[in-house]
This record gives sequence, C-alpha cells and structure tokens, in this order.
Amino acid sequence: MRKLVAGNWKMYGLASSLAEIEALKGLTGEAACDIVVCPPFTLLEKAAERAKDSTVAIGAQDCHRQISDAYTGDVSAEMLVDPGARFVILGHSERRVFHHETDAMVATKVTAARTAGLTAIICVGETRSERGDGKAIEVVGAQLRASVPAGASSSNLVIAYEPVWAIGTGLVPTIEQIEEIHSSIRQRLEELGEDRRNVRIPYGGSVKASNAAAIFGAENVDGALVGGASLKATEFAGIISAAA
Ligand code: G3P
Repeated sequence: MRKLVAGNWKMYGLASSLAEIEALKGLTGEAACDIVVCPPFTLLEKAAERAKDSTVAIGAQDCHRQISDAYTGDVSAEMLVDPGARFVILGHSERRVFHHETDAMVATKVTAARTAGLTAIICVGETRSERGDGKAIEVVGAQLRASVPAGASSSNLVIAYEPVWAIGTGLVPTIEQIEEIHSSIRQRLEELGEDRRNVRIPYGGSVKASNAAAIFGAENVDGALVGGASLKATEFAGIISAAA
C-alpha cells in the first residue's frame, strides 16, 4: 500500500512558515509516498497556493459537523475545500481533551468531511494509564467502532494510531506494540466491511527522521502523522524519504 506521510502543524505557523512548503517541494520531488501538510486554518489558502503543481496535498486540523449554520467561530468542511484542502484531521487527542470531543462527535465530523469531498484522518490512541492497565487494544477498538460512520471507505478515510503518551514526549512504543495495535485496527476495519480493507493506518507520536525507517518497517504501518518534526522541511523530508 502506498504510504501517507502527513504533517500536523498544530497551532504553530505564521505566513513566514510557508517557506517550509517551498523547501519541502524542493527536497521531496516525486516522493514514493503521499505527502500532506496540515497548517492552521489561517494558512490554508496560501499553503495550497504554495503547494500547487507539486505532490504536496494540503489538509486542515478540524472541521464542524454541519455544512453551514449559525456557529460563530466554527469552520465547516466545505470551507476547507474552498481554499484547497483535500484532507482533514479529526478526533486528534488534543481536540478530544481540550474541546471535549467524543467519538460520536468525531463520527458526525467524518460524515461532514466526506460529504464535502475531503479525506478524514481519524486519530485514535490510548493514554498512558490505559496502556498501563493493559487496555490499549480495547480503547482503540472502541474509538474505532464509534468514530467511523457508515459510508466511510479507503477512498475517504485514514486511521492514525497516535498513543497519547507518545505525542510530543519523545517516547515511542516498541515496534511490537505498534504492530499489535495496527493489526488490531486492520482486523476491525476488515470486520467493518470489504471497502475498508485498504484504509491506510499511519502511526503518529514522536516520529523523527531517525526512527521513521524502523516504524515504517512495522507490519500494517502505512505512513506517519507527524507533529513537531513536520515543522522543519529537512527533518520532514527525511521522514518522507524513509517511506520509500
Ligand atoms: O498529530 C501529530 C501528533 O500529535 C504527533 O506529534 O510532535 O509527537 O510528532 P509529535
């Protein structure tokens, strides 16, 4: 399966950060994987302009569940497509914690994203204490069941496994732990139907150029969702080249 390497800029980046996209284009050329950069809402249009005629696709970091209505301060999936986004990250643990997003809310957003023509990257993953309690597979399985709506398939869905304890900490699960969760996700997707068999499952959490090759070598790992290391074009390009 062709891997997907996506960079989540989170709430980092001003217009000057767009130079990273120019640099990335120069460093990656015809990459052997799909590349997505997800800047903040404010940079989407300019990022899409910079990425034009390149292999870099642009994604957003959230959307509202409605296509349009009276929701002050919110942004709909259609509004992401307008400036050029093709992907949207949904259910990131930072949204689940700081914005109290539930699996049910994530599922409605995934449907809105699909209706607007976006590919949703749904994030799932256990906390440190859930892993300590031996519940990682159970937690991820429950998130998956409740956040993937009917109609989602490999053409509009990506599932990123992001253990919460590995995000921004420098901690990375062992390859065996990654394989265990990824294969459980693959199995659940297969149970959910034929059209979900080829959904890509990238790993996220402290991915760097130096550990990317080992992570990509793990079974059922179809790429990476990268935070901090995606903000530097050279480091991100190192991860992309490891996905070849
Ligand atoms: O969505 C990406 C993410 O949460 C991982 O962040 O900084 O650990 O690569 P980081």
